[in-house]
Amino acid sequence: MTPEGIKILIDPWLDNPLAPEQKDIGPYDIVLITHAHGDHLGNVLEIARSAATEVIAIHEIQQFLLAQGLPNVTGMNIGGSYRTKGLTITMVQAVHSSSIQTNNSIIYGGDPAGFVVRLEDGRAIYHAGDTGLFYDLSLIGELYHPDVAMLPIGDHYVMGPREAAKACALLKPKVVIPMHYGTFPLLTGTPEAFAKYLQEMAPEVVLRVLNPGESVQF
Ligand code: NI
Repeated sequence: MTPEGIKILIDPWLDNPLAPEQKDIGPYDIVLITHAHGDHLGNVLEIARSAATEVIAIHEIQQFLLAQGLPNVTGMNIGGSYRTKGLTITMVQAVHSSSIQTNNSIIYGGDPAGFVVRLEDGRAIYHAGDTGLFYDLSLIGELYHPDVAMLPIGDHYVMGPREAAKACALLKPKVVIPMHYGTFPLLTGTPEAFAKYLQEMAPEVVLRVLNPGESVQF
């Protein structure tokens, strides 16, 4: 929820086995999709049935979702910014893959992305999506000065704790929230390991660990 009351959902996978029993199914004003993997596209077809909910995704996912009957989907591409509902949303690079799994084939999902959301009061939130470590995170830091960064730490499919700590050193956010860990056994990265590396590589960044369903206000 932004200062002006705009409710945003990023990667609506409500079927996540770690999600709380009581799920917030909206309505949402904006749904951001970082990439097309099932654990990120998630329940978007149920969540965004109303035209009052604007879905924002890369062009290829936009075309897919429009074809599935969603009424209000805005397509963008990496590097661009889009102003909507008092916010500025910038789609930024992520180093990952992106595809839509159907019964017996895989559909190209465009490039994976992250988002910088500039709030009404000028503060910025960066959600990295699924990504590996890359040096241009420092560009995102220089250009957008994120107050809060949400970074994956789970390892195997995304950055691990050590890489995520280096990402903090490049991005220089005020606060970091780790994500994308603990869901499957393969995601071995832990907040404890992340805290240790963060202390070494970016001790000035405040670590805020959230439990499923927990909320935090900035
Ligand atoms: Ni993914």
